[in-house]
Amino acid sequence: MSRAARTAPLAPEAALTTPRHPFTRPPADTARAGAVLARCRALTHPALVDAVAQLDPWTGRMAAYALGWRDPGGAPDPTGSGGKGLRQALAVLSAEAVGASGTTALPAAVAVELVHTFSLLHDDIMDGDPLRRRRPAVWRAYGVGPAVLAGDALHALAVQTLAEAPGERAPAAVRHLSRTLTALVRGQADDLRFEELPWTGPDAPGLAAYRAMAEQKTGVLLGCAAALGAELGGAPGATVTALDRAGRHLGIAFQAVDDLLGIWGDPALTGKPVHSDLRQRKKTFPLLAALAGAGPARRELAALLDSVEPLEGARAAHAAALVDEAGGRAATRAEASTHLEAARACLAATRPAPAAARDLDALVGSLLDRAW
Ligand code: IPE
Ligand code: IPE
Ligand code: MG
Ligand code: MG
Repeated sequence: MSRAARTAPLAPEAALTTPRHPFTRPPADTARAGAVLARCRALTHPALVDAVAQLDPWTGRMAAYALGWRDPGGAPDPTGSGGKGLRQALAVLSAEAVGASGTTALPAAVAVELVHTFSLLHDDIMDGDPLRRRRPAVWRAYGVGPAVLAGDALHALAVQTLAEAPGERAPAAVRHLSRTLTALVRGQADDLRFEELPWTGPDAPGLAAYRAMAEQKTGVLLGCAAALGAELGGAPGATVTALDRAGRHLGIAFQAVDDLLGIWGDPALTGKPVHSDLRQRKKTFPLLAALAGAGPARRELAALLDSVEPLEGARAAHAAALVDEAGGRAATRAEASTHLEAARACLAATRPAPAAARDLDALVGSLLDRAW
């Protein structure tokens, strides 16, 4: 596969030609998915601790806070959370899927989790979000400048960790991670630029533009996680590419559900502020899908979004109700479902080892109805 093809966004046709089975999956086996994530977190944790120990004490302390291990002063924090660990799990499970041991993937698992953490630190500054994983975001706990630096430190440490992975596949893995970082920044740039675009009319971003943005800001890292596990596990190129593609589809679905949780999620579970995307007037999938329809709810929503009044409190709740009424919520679930099915098809094409296939299946099955 050419370099251009590897970095190109998924063609919109990939989604459009995938059969739509929006709500036909059995109920998600969330308990099993939780156990899979916990196993992969436990496997990766010591390597993550070793990596973070290489940072200087100040950025190391901020990293330990961001990862949920410590409070802002550096004391152990039993209330902290390091997040779900989806990306590290994808790296571990992909290695297992190609017949290698999960430990083979550890440099990849650590690297993708560090990149994820770095991207969240910077994202909360860009989005002005004061809360992450139920605690003050790093920029609120330490200040914007230190939080930028901590993000940079995590970014650098991720690349270093992967570059130092043993074996002849490490250089290819680092090249993949580097392309991923460039794409992630492109996605975040589009996400920010969309804030300035109108909601309706020829200059408004459509659903295809949203999809491309979500693939870049979120999908590429999930794709990278899955690809790198297979890469370090010694898999052939076609398998690595198929797993990358599976992860990108998962990422688009994951981001669509993240958008739903940003409007209708329980902040006690998501650990993030409710209605923050609405307050910021972010161009999320539920809103764009609602505006793509017709009818009175759509018209009222467009007027609300175009007004200069702050979208907070009761106005935000009313906007959320209009999005639902105009079909934005159902369309977003359908979008997520479509990409989860596409991810399943890509995974199946790699003929994964049976135990890893079951774990991946549980994980994919839990993503549509996740509550955090
Ligand atoms: C949040 O990711 C940011 C997105 C890419 C949508 P997660 O929902 O995986 O965050 P944590 O790691 O579990 O907190
Ligand atoms: C997710 O951004 C993508 C990255 C962090 C790169 P969002 O802004 O959509 O994610 P949340 O909702 O803050 O976690
Ligand atoms: Mg954000
Ligand atoms: Mg953001």
